[in-house]
Amino acid sequence: FDSGALAGLRLVITAGPTREALDPVRYLSNHSSGKMGYALARAAAEAGAVTTLVSGPVHLDTPAHVRRVDVESARDMLDACQALVADCDIFIACAAVADYRPATVREQKIKKGGEHSSLKLIRNPDIVAAIANGTPRPFTVGFAAETQDVVDYARDKLQRKNLDLIVANDVSKADLGFASDENEVTAIWRDGASQLPRATKHNLARELVALIAERHASAGNR
Ligand code: C5P
Repeated sequence: FDSGALAGLRLVITAGPTREALDPVRYLSNHSSGKMGYALARAAAEAGAVTTLVSGPVHLDTPAHVRRVDVESARDMLDACQALVADCDIFIACAAVADYRPATVREQKIKKGGEHSSLKLIRNPDIVAAIANGTPRPFTVGFAAETQDVVDYARDKLQRKNLDLIVANDVSKADLGFASDENEVTAIWRDGASQLPRATKHNLARELVALIAERHASAGNR
């Protein structure tokens, strides 16, 4: 544990969905299982990193030797991450953060009325962009789930969010990504890329951790 590729480094990983409350009994969310983030946390801990998972609500066991901070909303997740980046070398954003939240959270359960109803939404903060543009700034890794022009969109996201590395996957392939146990991804950084072929999320996580350790080291951090 003290001789792995990430020995002595502190990692923070976001995982799972967020839940955006509408009223005391309802929320907006998505189908993220958290599997990829949890697999990364496990692989990071196995590689010797002091690893913290900032997790939305998921049905997964906390990996061994990983500290877990549970959050619900995007704003909770941002607060938890900002508190943790003070002591963090590498930040990995794997969570499927809700892009929008209800503009207001009703204190009482919303009653049904006529045939139609509408909901006013407002943008959530972009957590990984906030971390990548803050100080102190850890080596920052994001994910990009795309359904077309995967590498082009991911490269654009890498620059726009000021990331060090982005992991792109094609979510139009029904048997991969999201709730699946398998995935295939392309890792992209400013002056390079590496394609990681289809594998279980666990094996892919190990390969990604090795790649992240390598990129972090060659970015002059070691
Ligand atoms: O912009 P998009 O949602 O495609 O970006 C995906 C990447 O950004 C992922 O790494 C995700 O965890 C992160 N993200 C975030 N906060 C948001 C939206 C996305 O950290 N509000």
